[in-house]
Amino acid sequence: MKTSTTHPYRVLLADDQADIRDALRLLLKREGYETHGVASPADALSAIETREFDAVLMDLNYARDTTSGQEGLDLLPRIQMLDGTLPVIVMTAWSSVEVAVEAMRRGARDFIQKPWENTRLLSILRTQIDLRQALRQASRLEAENRILRAESRPTFLADSPAMQPVLELIGRIGPSDASVLITGEHGTGKEVVARTLHAMSTRSSKPMVTVNAGGLSEGIFESELFGHVKGAFTDARSDRVGRFELAEGSTLFLDEIANVPLNLQAKLLRVLETGEMERVGSSTTRRADVRVLAATNADVDAEAAAGRFRQDLLFRLNTIEVRIPPLRERREDIDLLAHHFLRGYSQRYRKNLSGFDPAAAKALQEHLWPGNVRELDHAVERGVLLSAGPFVRAADLGLRPQAPGGSAKLEDMSLDEVERHLIQRTLARHDGNVSQAAKSLGLSRSAMYRRLQKHGLE
Ligand SMILES: Nc1ncnc2c1ncn2[C@@H]1O[C@H](COP(=O)(O)OP(=O)(O)OP(=O)(O)O)[C@@H](O)[C@H]1O
Ligand SMILES: [Mg+2]
Repeated sequence: MKTSTTHPYRVLLADDQADIRDALRLLLKREGYETHGVASPADALSAIETREFDAVLMDLNYARDTTSGQEGLDLLPRIQMLDGTLPVIVMTAWSSVEVAVEAMRRGARDFIQKPWENTRLLSILRTQIDLRQALRQASRLEAENRILRAESRPTFLADSPAMQPVLELIGRIGPSDASVLITGEHGTGKEVVARTLHAMSTRSSKPMVTVNAGGLSEGIFESELFGHVKGAFTDARSDRVGRFELAEGSTLFLDEIANVPLNLQAKLLRVLETGEMERVGSSTTRRADVRVLAATNADVDAEAAAGRFRQDLLFRLNTIEVRIPPLRERREDIDLLAHHFLRGYSQRYRKNLSGFDPAAAKALQEHLWPGNVRELDHAVERGVLLSAGPFVRAADLGLRPQAPGGSAKLEDMSLDEVERHLIQRTLARHDGNVSQAAKSLGLSRSAMYRRLQKHGLE
């Protein structure tokens, strides 16, 4: 009997014999089911197409061919195509096990032999309907979860070999509760990584709380982090909940961690180790269940060596370190990211752009990107805004030629980058003439070509 939902379960009865349909209808009606009878496979299909059923009870043999069960067997895959979750229970007049097995193979959920036992028929029917409800519920929940996750997870694009270990590490530690230190130059995507880690974790149903240590004065930092009680200091006119407490059950992202004042680093360490803290001006110890992610673009090891960052706090934070390489060390990602930003900005500014023209694509590849992904983001935004379409041109991107001593300093580059840079400049000086550029660099033509190939400059 149906109790949990508002309308009765509806069962399709497919049998060419009217007396069988009547007998089934009476039996099921007594049990609170609604039924609809059809006499042929074609009618069964059109009934399923037009109404929703909770189950099908169907004979395998119809008038045209009354013994082989072929008509009923042919019907099964067609019902499956219309509604893959609709449970079909087949009825066989002869105790032909082979036909029943074949029917199950083609998608029937169970079978019953005629003449049937009422209790057995009812129990099979009920089981199949319940099973389908459970399956539907589960897939609905799964779909909802997928949507929720997709909505909260930031876009994190990475295709380059240099990013593979980073992706792999993120995949491994994302779902855990581990503290993670995220390092990388300005604009490399540290916050994107923090958001991705949070979105992958069991804490993702609550929003991540961010504290930017770089943007807070020393005076208010402590109360920002731990909260305060009324009267703790002159301006404390009421109690205040700190970010640690706000992040209860969620993730706290401590951005620019190297800027945390030395005297507060000890307090931070204690929370990380024990989960305990006090609001400023209070002696009541509070506990917070918080996962901490921290980020910095400073060289914290050097800061620690110089005594500006506590070694023990560093050890506590960097058990797991995600080091994001600068964009110039993963040029394979430039194109992917540039097109991603292009799509976004074309939509935002209602421009119908098909891509970058060859000179623009080349400029994107050759730029050193001292400001990393954020600089690329801004360059593409500018390109989209200025472009007359259908392609973004090199000039629209507004990339400044980079000279050593400018935004990218020679001493900040790796040897490889210096080599690439020098080759580019020399080529430019000789209007792209490889032989002349090779000569002025003191290289043979083949040595020059090897280097062009290595740096992707051919
Ligand atoms: N892998 C990526 N996929 C997609 N977008 C990215 C990626 N990395 C960075 N971005 C985008 O680039 C911009 C800068 O990223 P983010 O703010 O995470 O960098 P950051 O390392 O925290 O920078 P800063 O050191 O300046 O705080 C953001 O708009 C971000 O969405
Ligand atoms: Mg950041």
